Amino acid sequence: MNAPLNVPVNAPVNAHVNARGAPAPEHYLPQHYWEDRARRFAAEGSGLAAVCSYGMPEFYNRMIHYSQHLALRPWLNIQPGTRVLDVGCGVGRWSTLLAKRGGSVTGMDLSPTMIAEARRRAELKNVSNRCRFLVQDLAQLDAGETFDLILGVTVLQHILDPEALRSAAQRMASHLAPGGRMVLLEAAPVDVAQHCDTTVFRARQRSVYLDLFAEAGVELRAISGVDPAPFKTWLLPHLRRLPRPLAVSAIAAVTLLSTPIDVIFGRVAVQQSWHAVFVLQRTGGAHAA
Ligand SMILES: C[S@@+](CC[C@H](N)C(=O)[O-])C[C@H]1O[C@@H](n2cnc3c(N)ncnc32)[C@H](O)[C@@H]1O
Repeated sequence: MNAPLNVPVNAPVNAHVNARGAPAPEHYLPQHYWEDRARRFAAEGSGLAAVCSYGMPEFYNRMIHYSQHLALRPWLNIQPGTRVLDVGCGVGRWSTLLAKRGGSVTGMDLSPTMIAEARRRAELKNVSNRCRFLVQDLAQLDAGETFDLILGVTVLQHILDPEALRSAAQRMASHLAPGGRMVLLEAAPVDVAQHCDTTVFRARQRSVYLDLFAEAGVELRAISGVDPAPFKTWLLPHLRRLPRPLAVSAIAAVTLLSTPIDVIFGRVAVQQSWHAVFVLQRTGGAHAA
């Protein structure tokens, strides 16, 4: 693999890059950015390069997938027939998993190519009869029904416009059935930490999300951690300055160091975790089973 770990940070999204990924664009046009990324990577292998870290080695993205999976696992034990909405579903890695568990799944995403790929993967896994997919902007979500489970994995962190973010939270809340549960995994450090922010990504302080959810009429029922090992976030801001062989070695080293810590302490080291899983219900709603 030939990942562009030393390309300039501000190159435009369609700039010619000599390898698999691209740096964050100077101006973030979400529809353009995600569609471009999907066209490059969504059909490839597991599709993780389209929805996890862009331009990183496959082993790095596989470990991200694994730590997310561990963190989400307690919240994804659904009953057959559970109505699920997977917002910003990307290539459908959670949609197909939940459909396999018997959920009746609606996946939605801004990018038509992500959605086409999610549809294709649902067919491959023989769950297309339990899935429907919509191309929509979360800020204007209109799925035409309410859901028992709304899942969003690393989506709000890419909605940078404050009004769009507020609207996204409100649209999700309004699609929650009585007693339904919203499970959102986002970069949400406890303290202000902007060193990994780019033009397409914000690590908002956890309290910002809690205020946002309260304003949308959903309240926190549980919170858990994902990835308390700090090494990745130390490395990421410096990565593009390193020569490629050194960068790959550094990524391998932080992956090796982080994995046992994240696997063992991921869920319990909530305060230290870079990402958080927020479990929410409508204010006044019944506790989820
Ligand atoms: C980091 S990827 C995560 C994809 C998927 N949730 C997963 O975990 O595999 C972020 C996804 O959010 C989608 N997205 C970004 N902004 C969006 C918006 N405003 N409305 C709907 N989807 C959006 C992108 O197209 C992309 O598929």
